[in-house]
Amino acid sequence: MDNHNDLFLNQAFSKKPLGASSLILKNSFLKSATYEGMFDKGIPNQKLIDHHVALAKGGVGLTTISYGAVHADARTFENQMYINEVSLVPLKKLAEKVHNAGGKVSIQLTHCGFFSKNKKAKKIIAPSRLFNAYGFLSGMMFSEAMKEADMEQVTQDFVDSALSIKSIDFDAVEIHMGHGYLLSQFLSPLTNKRTDHYGGSIMNRSRFPLELVKRVIEAVGTDFPVLVKLNLDDGVRGGFSLEDCLYVSKRLESIGCAAIILSGGFTSKSPFYMMRGDIPLKGMIINASSWAEKITMSLFGPAIIKKYDFTPNFFLEKALKVRQAVSIDLVYLGGVDSTKGILKILDAGFNFIALARPLIHDPEFLNKIKEGRIVKSLCNRCNECIVEMDREGIRCVLSS
Ligand SMILES: Cc1cc2nc3c(=O)[nH]c(=O)nc-3n(C[C@H](O)[C@H](O)[C@H](O)COP(=O)(O)O)c2cc1C
Repeated sequence: MDNHNDLFLNQAFSKKPLGASSLILKNSFLKSATYEGMFDKGIPNQKLIDHHVALAKGGVGLTTISYGAVHADARTFENQMYINEVSLVPLKKLAEKVHNAGGKVSIQLTHCGFFSKNKKAKKIIAPSRLFNAYGFLSGMMFSEAMKEADMEQVTQDFVDSALSIKSIDFDAVEIHMGHGYLLSQFLSPLTNKRTDHYGGSIMNRSRFPLELVKRVIEAVGTDFPVLVKLNLDDGVRGGFSLEDCLYVSKRLESIGCAAIILSGGFTSKSPFYMMRGDIPLKGMIINASSWAEKITMSLFGPAIIKKYDFTPNFFLEKALKVRQAVSIDLVYLGGVDSTKGILKILDAGFNFIALARPLIHDPEFLNKIKEGRIVKSLCNRCNECIVEMDREGIRCVLSS
């Protein structure tokens, strides 16, 4: 490596503040949320703690717990974790252990909207009445269009969850506004069919998600970073677009969001857009929760689940457009798997880099890159980790 690259890499591995807060990360690297499946009836278990401690020890600056549902009804399926008095106990222990390992920790706060097969949910809510392809085999055919009272309740659930997480010594929260969950369903014209001032133009479609983020920031205070995961686009024709993303990014900047994590895809329509690579259909069929689901997936899976080829830094071109439009801290995510890839992202002006699969493959990946022990991840994007998360908990089938 030449001096210029050495300097850049050294900078990436040195301390830096996140947004305008006083939170200092030991480096520029975040572990992107990946559903861990390390819960016993929705309560985080020791595996989850060990998983995130290993990531902190392995060189991650800020690790992220995935899918912290803000209410029991915000879960995509029953027995998923949600933020309550019971789950806060092991989460507090997790935060302490991650801190002892030299890392910082955040959690993704989420509401599923209509993407639900949670039979325990009192009602399935979404911006509009929508057919629920994910849950219809569980007898949950349609969502109810949210009333303003529902929006107020969901906002309060996010606020309460963020305050609870702050109270157990987490370092930040991430509001999930992407990937086709509730807030993303508001942003997307494919799922937001409203004719009131919460539907139509991007100004209207983003009104509820932005009001919610603003309320969370006001509640936790500007010294506690609130990150937002936002789609560059949905990866589906007629969905949330890059132009929409530029608008929302500017607004997030103006309301005091600490950083935006750029991603893409809509779980119920283009699930592999956000990660690319192979579709582990065989394992997904075995894991399906009912025979009806297994048969549907066997018959229609190959036709309905679109494959996207993996290329390194696959979102870079689109993310650059956002980089040029705002000065807020931006977290680049998607296909970073080598020293070369990291340098390219830093050179393009991104403040932080999030990684998922290279760290599932090897939690020591970043230490090894820093010390020059490796220059590239051996993750081959087989995506079998997706199957594993629904078995005994997320793991890489290549490395264990
Ligand atoms: C097994 C698996 C589970 C994931 N779960 C989540 C999740 O819960 N929340 C989320 O925002 N993204 C999730 N993702 C997407 C990743 O965070 C990330 O956007 C994607 O893998 C691309 O990054 P990478 O190329 O570094 O792996 C998941 C990805 C994988 C492979």
